[in-house]
Amino acid sequence: MTDIVKKLLNKMTVEEKIGQLIQVTGDFFKGSESTITGPLSENGRLKDEVKYMIGSVLGTSGSSEVKKIQQDYLAHSSLKIPLLFMADVIHGYKTIFPIPLGIAATFNPKMMKIASQVAASESAAAGLHVTFAPMVDLVRDPRWGRVMESTGEDPYLNEVMAREAVKGFQGNLPIDDSHIAATVKHFAGYGAAEAGREYNTVDMSEWQFRENYLGAYQSAIEAQAKLVMTSFNTMFGVPATGNKYLMKDILRQELEFNGVLISDWDAINELINHGTATDLQAATNLALNAGVDIDMMSFAYITLLEHVDELSKNVLKLIDESASRVLQLKKELGLFQNPYKGLNPEKENDKDIKLAHEKNALEVAEESIVMVKNNSSILPLSFDQRVFLTGPVADTGDLLGSWSWKGDVLQTKSLLFKMKKSFKNISFSEGINYHDRHIKDWDKISQQVSDADVIIVALGQPSSESGEATSMMEPTLPIGQIEYLKKLRQFNKPIVAIVVTGRPLILTQVNELVDAMLISFFPGTKGATALTNILTGKSEPTGRLPMTFPRNNGQIPIYYNSYTTGRPIEFGLQNNETKYVTKYIDGSNDPLYNFGDGLGYADISISESVIQENVLSMSEQIKVSVILQNKSNRSGQTVLQGYIHQKIGETVHPTKALKWFKKIEVPAKNSRKIMMSIPVNELASVHQDLSTSIDLGEYEIMVGLNSTDLVSHNLTIE
Ligand code: GLC
Repeated sequence: MTDIVKKLLNKMTVEEKIGQLIQVTGDFFKGSESTITGPLSENGRLKDEVKYMIGSVLGTSGSSEVKKIQQDYLAHSSLKIPLLFMADVIHGYKTIFPIPLGIAATFNPKMMKIASQVAASESAAAGLHVTFAPMVDLVRDPRWGRVMESTGEDPYLNEVMAREAVKGFQGNLPIDDSHIAATVKHFAGYGAAEAGREYNTVDMSEWQFRENYLGAYQSAIEAQAKLVMTSFNTMFGVPATGNKYLMKDILRQELEFNGVLISDWDAINELINHGTATDLQAATNLALNAGVDIDMMSFAYITLLEHVDELSKNVLKLIDESASRVLQLKKELGLFQNPYKGLNPEKENDKDIKLAHEKNALEVAEESIVMVKNNSSILPLSFDQRVFLTGPVADTGDLLGSWSWKGDVLQTKSLLFKMKKSFKNISFSEGINYHDRHIKDWDKISQQVSDADVIIVALGQPSSESGEATSMMEPTLPIGQIEYLKKLRQFNKPIVAIVVTGRPLILTQVNELVDAMLISFFPGTKGATALTNILTGKSEPTGRLPMTFPRNNGQIPIYYNSYTTGRPIEFGLQNNETKYVTKYIDGSNDPLYNFGDGLGYADISISESVIQENVLSMSEQIKVSVILQNKSNRSGQTVLQGYIHQKIGETVHPTKALKWFKKIEVPAKNSRKIMMSIPVNELASVHQDLSTSIDLGEYEIMVGLNSTDLVSHNLTIE
């Protein structure tokens, strides 16, 4: 603990320490009616003596707003401890980047760092000190709306992206005026809500948690994330926000996290709904004992003020510890020297900075787009082709996705706006909106299609159907969009589908009806430009799927790194057994699109891969040299992927697990030799006793440009 923190703690009353543990929205400082009741309020507002002890504010940003609240607070606060300002800057502040699922689709860690850096720079200028990001929850279920906020189903991709996000938000420590503190969320396991139903129970073995979910949180904490946020859900039968084992034994001791632990919104109070606390006081005790430092908007910790004299020694000690961590964070952020740290109205409104950030956003958006189909190379289109653009996503700025903070949909250029500048002959009719089944102007559309060489149909979901509290029982496109597509198909003209989505959708019918398809995970402020640049070939689609796309709703959860089971389909084929194997009687096990899938405009393949040594010790590196061959007349990029399969172990192991990836440019009519190098300690896995170690024995290392067409090399660790 540093001296200024110690000095303050020695001076502070218990009430003032409790104040530091309370977080409310900015409304409580704007004098507007609020909803608080009880002895600490007057006509719905916090009493001044409470208000000017509060430790932090969430959801308020903008340099003038923040400055006004901070000035007023410091003028009234006795100890002049500055407020912390926090907000959900998830994938951009004003310049919006693709949603995190889209940044994951770039398979380029640099893109996550750039997006986080720009978001931090804009946020800091707007007076923010902390973002509630990155969300690193592993997700295998597209029914859950917050899959948009995740980086998908793979533990390794999640770990890499989590690390880069924290580095991008925080920069080098100490956090300077262009960066903000990162909050790893949601600890833990929120992405595994049963049936993909929002806020639903999470029930997994600790083995599964440690094997697949814990890594990304750990990676973010190792990258020095300053805060962690608790999750709404249960973990091992106990709600995370009151779960001492999860928060003290695992988070604080095992992961050695000593930063600030903040609850999710109202999560302490919700311990009552969970049935693990009888009232707010009991909920407060559970959360304090679990080491939750800040109570976000549940007004549980505030009840401590009502009976300060009766607080036990243990509670007083816990209050001290939490207050100390909050003050330490304020110190590390430099708030004691400058309560207006980073706040910069000129920078906030600088046009050149905005243009530079939009350039970054375009780069990330282009790399996030995944081409999953391109029959007879219909894409890229040529400038003089006659294009008919249609569909509910063609002429809308709703490309930002959920949690796009100050991003302005009304200022976001649409596909139509951008494509008009890139195609000489383009016609447009919306046809249907997101949920319509009535096609508008069919006669006009029929003529437009007849006059066109190619149909571009922009489909998808609105941002309002993605993000928190948007679970879907059937993550598919609305029936009206499918019916419209079927009618367009009747003209037998080439159809290119663009699907803008916040989640993997079941696109089985769409896939059959179109000749080419681009998947765009809400691409952000420059999304329309990115999509247009890819349609015209100015840029190449280089994204890869960070999540499996199911063929059928009934397959969910379906993910690539699954286990063989005792009766794999292959087992059946070898033994001429087709009934008693792991399968469905009403459909295929195979997804529509696989994790790691994605096409480019160049014809690149692996012409050779050679493992350098196939007997290694634990301290060595697995090295595979790979030659990539580009047979096309245009340079192109591909994503070289390395997967490991542990053949035998005390526990089961996935048939393949991503352990290496890199986006690589290969010049036209040329080749590139790449050395894939994977530390053997990446092979560590969790054992029955929950310890993590590397098993000696036989492995496979598989290399490929996706997760299914793989070249395998045997490997022995001894
Ligand atoms: C929400 C989310 C959390 C967010 C918080 C503050 O309910 O679960 O991710 O950071 O509240 O907005």
